[in-house]
Amino acid sequence: MLKRLLIAIVGIVLIGAIAVVGLSWHSAIAPIAPLAAASFSPQLVEQGAMLAGQGNCAACHTIKGGAQLAGGVPLATPFGTIYSTNITPDPATGIGSWSQAAFKRAMHEGVRQDGAHLFPAFPYTHFAMVNDADLTALYAWLMTRPAVVAPAKASTLPFPLDQRPLQAGWKLLYFDKAADSTNAAKSVDWNRGRYLAEGLAHCAACHTPRNALGAERKDDPYRGASIDGWFAPALTAANTTPLPWTETELFTFLRRGATTLHGSAVGPMSEVVHDGLALSSDADVHALAVYFADMNGSATRPETNAAASATALAGVMAKSATVAGQFNNHGATLYLSACASCHSNSDGKPNALRPELALNSALTEPDPANLIRVILHGVGRAEGMPDLMMPGFAQSLTDADVVELAGWLRGRTTSAPWQNLAASVAAIRKNSAP
Ligand code: HEC
Ligand code: HEC
Ligand code: HEC
Repeated sequence: MLKRLLIAIVGIVLIGAIAVVGLSWHSAIAPIAPLAAASFSPQLVEQGAMLAGQGNCAACHTIKGGAQLAGGVPLATPFGTIYSTNITPDPATGIGSWSQAAFKRAMHEGVRQDGAHLFPAFPYTHFAMVNDADLTALYAWLMTRPAVVAPAKASTLPFPLDQRPLQAGWKLLYFDKAADSTNAAKSVDWNRGRYLAEGLAHCAACHTPRNALGAERKDDPYRGASIDGWFAPALTAANTTPLPWTETELFTFLRRGATTLHGSAVGPMSEVVHDGLALSSDADVHALAVYFADMNGSATRPETNAAASATALAGVMAKSATVAGQFNNHGATLYLSACASCHSNSDGKPNALRPELALNSALTEPDPANLIRVILHGVGRAEGMPDLMMPGFAQSLTDADVVELAGWLRGRTTSAPWQNLAASVAAIRKNSAP
């Protein structure tokens, strides 16, 4: 009901906006004959591969186990499912007939070769900041991939939201085509980090909450948001982990996929680290760390040192000490039997190979999704720390068990219980295949 109402409002607003702009119209850009792969220099193609990683093109354009960049990946939005398109150089069903100018317009303005608007599920609102040199390299990489025949799949967006001309209204409201500008008050690294984060790497697309029309809330950037059944935590001072995300912690997390003091990159974040940033230089990863460490103000928080981590752990130790007396507490019993063999840290020091749950954002963030997902499905070998895995408990724990366990773990680290835990566990078990 609410959803329908929302859709109706969306429709009205968009149509209203259209009326204001008067149909903003783009012309088609003439198709070109397929380009020979040999017309691009190997160096340019290599640079393009690195950039494609930073932009996570594969995460959205390649189906797991399917042909590279052939599209068809379903992206769930509150309004319906949108499918990514084929961006291989197939001239009929991919972008093989797109000139570089057509590609650049798509990335900078969200407009297709034929002049139609693209939906913002394609993060052109961020790609608009990518400079021409980087787009030239990306184009070279795309045009030298194997061509795959794969026609586009229709979205399940209801009328009138499926109407591409209406996107002009959305753009008028939410698309700020501001180009990259240097902030002279900040360091070179910070400016590089900003260019990557706000542009190609589109970190905000997952970490910034969205408004009712699906646009990122510019008034609340990086405040944390739900994405594909996961929760992307706040990257500002609002981050809830006990220890600050310093430049070093951020660098280690983004470079290796895990840190002793914060835990592992899992789910969609694991793809960002292990597939996305894998080919990036240390300098680029460092620049991202500089930018976000400045944003979260970690420099003004206590150092991530032995003393600070001991304080955080001591609180948990004190509570764990009473576990023995809690055998009538089902959550505590489950923790001792299913988790403590790996996540115990009885000497009060974080273990580099086992995330210390007291320090992990999964327990302290406002949304229990990440903890529930990890308990049910574990952590795969390719996620987090390479070659290390955690078993899933979907087969051995009932929904009621997971509710007790998650509730008990939450109680060890914060005094604000999660609301509606039972509904979250049931929904995640239903919607997330292992
Ligand atoms: C968050 C998901 C996501 C990411 C990341 C993403 N895309 Fe897309 N892309 C889409 C979707 C969805 C569409 C289809 C939009 C539509 O139909 O309006 C699309 C469409 C496109 C199109 C238009 C193709 C056509 O035939 O209309 C191009 C070009 C494109 N993407 C290139 C890229 C490149 C290059 C990257 C990496 C730098 C990238 N995309 C990363 C989701 C994504
Ligand atoms: C496709 C969605 C997506 C994108 C894009 C993305 N993230 Fe994430 N990120 C997540 C999710 C989901 C989590 C929570 C899972 C986890 O802890 O690994 C997360 C976790 C994190 C964390 C750990 C926070 C904590 O308190 O545990 C950091 C730091 C982070 N992301 C930084 C970034 C940066 C920097 C970028 C851009 C380079 C980025 N993310 C891009 C989805 C995303
Ligand atoms: C066999 C050892 C083992 C058991 C048992 C185990 N874990 Fe884990 N757990 C791990 C390892 C290893 C990782 C890190 C995996 C990686 O980074 O690749 C992990 C990661 C995690 C994470 C961190 C995810 C993140 O974002 O940093 C959470 C939360 C977690 N486990 C909770 C639990 C809970 C709750 C239980 C009990 C139901 C449990 N684990 C049982 C080994 C285990």
